Amino acid sequence: MERMCGIVGYVGPRDSQAILLSGLARLEYRGYDSAGIAVIDRDGDLDMRKRAGKLQVLRDDLSAHPMGDGTTGIGHTRWATHGGPTDANAHPHLADDDKLAVIHNGIIENFAELKAELLAEGYTFRSETDTEVAAVLLGREFSASRDLVAAFRGVVARLEGAFTLLAMHRDEPGLVVGARRNSPLVIGLGDGENFLGSDVAAFVEHTRNALAIGQDQIVAITPQGVEVTDFAGGTVEVEPFEVVWDASAAEKGGWSSFMAKEVSEEPEAVANTLRGRLHDGSVVIPELDGLDDLFAGVSRVIVIACGTAAYAGMVGKYALEQWTRVPVDVELAHEFRYRDPVIGPDTLVVSISQSGETMDTLMAVKYAREQGAKTLSICNTQGATIPRESDAIVYTHAGPEVAVASTKAFVAQITALYLLALHIGRVRGSLSPEVSRDAVTQLEAIPAGIARVLETEQEHIEQFARWMGDTQSVLFLGRHVGYPIALEGALKLKELAYIHAEGFAAGELKHGPIALIEPGQAVFVIVPSPRASRELHKKVVSNIQEIRARGARVIAVAEEGDAAVLPFADEVLRIPLAGPLFEPLLAVVPLHIFAMGLATAKGLDVDQPRNLAKSVTVE
Ligand code: AGP
Repeated sequence: MERMCGIVGYVGPRDSQAILLSGLARLEYRGYDSAGIAVIDRDGDLDMRKRAGKLQVLRDDLSAHPMGDGTTGIGHTRWATHGGPTDANAHPHLADDDKLAVIHNGIIENFAELKAELLAEGYTFRSETDTEVAAVLLGREFSASRDLVAAFRGVVARLEGAFTLLAMHRDEPGLVVGARRNSPLVIGLGDGENFLGSDVAAFVEHTRNALAIGQDQIVAITPQGVEVTDFAGGTVEVEPFEVVWDASAAEKGGWSSFMAKEVSEEPEAVANTLRGRLHDGSVVIPELDGLDDLFAGVSRVIVIACGTAAYAGMVGKYALEQWTRVPVDVELAHEFRYRDPVIGPDTLVVSISQSGETMDTLMAVKYAREQGAKTLSICNTQGATIPRESDAIVYTHAGPEVAVASTKAFVAQITALYLLALHIGRVRGSLSPEVSRDAVTQLEAIPAGIARVLETEQEHIEQFARWMGDTQSVLFLGRHVGYPIALEGALKLKELAYIHAEGFAAGELKHGPIALIEPGQAVFVIVPSPRASRELHKKVVSNIQEIRARGARVIAVAEEGDAAVLPFADEVLRIPLAGPLFEPLLAVVPLHIFAMGLATAKGLDVDQPRNLAKSVTVE
């Protein structure tokens, strides 16, 4: 079951290996933890090689042990979400006595029943993936029809879920067949050669002439041409288009930077993290099945993480305490281990890490385990070291995050913490069905809420980021769950625009930081909803008046309809209405956009900021 994978297919006069490997390399942004190719070689045999690890591992293996080459081939990079990144789980998967090779992007939701059917017929399997079930089904159909397109038609009629499937059969060289439902697939039209790809990056270096395949369609490519039919066999017209991106933009799916792409994916990062975990008003996290006792026995939770992940933890703390009634502390992982913390078997240590490889966090998790604590990892990278070191795992499904500055992973981490809090609350009986139902309803509305902020505010924010291009310092104020968002906004600005930025608890202003306010000082203020707490809202509005009276330039992030801020703010960035605990998921989006906009206005590289690495694997 994979959600974000790279797919390439080729038929033509040229050797396919190099074409497949360079196509897969250009799909890097889709992330991969394993990769593989299959070709029909010049002897008419089907050769396949696949390896866990980065694409380079496969390249090195092919250099050390060359594989026969041929003019028909398919290639795949896997971003595992279910089923670890192992050689066996990597694609392509073979069937029909290894004469058929299949690759897949998506989720076949009914694969378990299909697998049971095939097992009952005596078929055997070598992996735990849903893809191999599709491969065996295709092999069974091909044995009957001896026609790969007909075999596809028989198989897709049985599949439920989202899938892009490509396959080739040794007995039909020069032919690659693909099918898609709710998952991308495009055709590259060459001169005497044709290509398939999960997106145009797979073949843009060879051709810019492309065809988009529609929902529930099957495509057969040969060197001579392309035939597209619907699942019932009817011929369909497909729209040709010219790829306008250059090869480097194509690697980012057409976005100007990975960060821009990933900010745009924040809605689906939340949606994908929620998917499959909300049932009729309550939360069920399959990965936590059988761990109820662990949660029932917890008397304390300590959240450990670094940087942006730690700020996600600070937001999550409010929900965790509210819904589980267990005391929660949030600690920086690199501090935690050295303060000789009082922890034991009744302590649940929750680590948060996008990469799952941050050494500070990993060492803190190991320390916690040595002290007898239970450990749970919230991680975005299947099979990474920190999840492997933990007693329990809740994966975020933000997809690969390539830009060093963490954006979509941040909102996915908060989402996962809320799911965890609701899950533990249900297990411990500290959560009423009404509260649970309301929280689920609020969570389900977040993807659309984030999308609305992107749609209505992005241009406005990018505009004033350009006006502020020469700013040397920005302050961020927040209160309650808005305080960690202020910290996150400041961190983004530091790491992207290289300017001094600092986040404060708004109530802290009068205890010192207000001395920093001078005419023209830019200050972002995350304004709490007036519907949630009139007192907090009033206090923050008076904070705005205090700094405005001293000449600050105030940019307020406030919910739609909140008129109280209008007389005192120079800019007001609007977010949709949401419950108080859910506002952070919306309020952070303008801050991500602003940091990216200011860095871009300064001509800086938003994907690879100076001095930073995506995963800090040293202490
Ligand atoms: C966030 O923008 C930073 N790149 C950094 O703070 C990051 O969040 C931190 O290093 C933790 O990384 P992790 O989530 O992979 O553990």
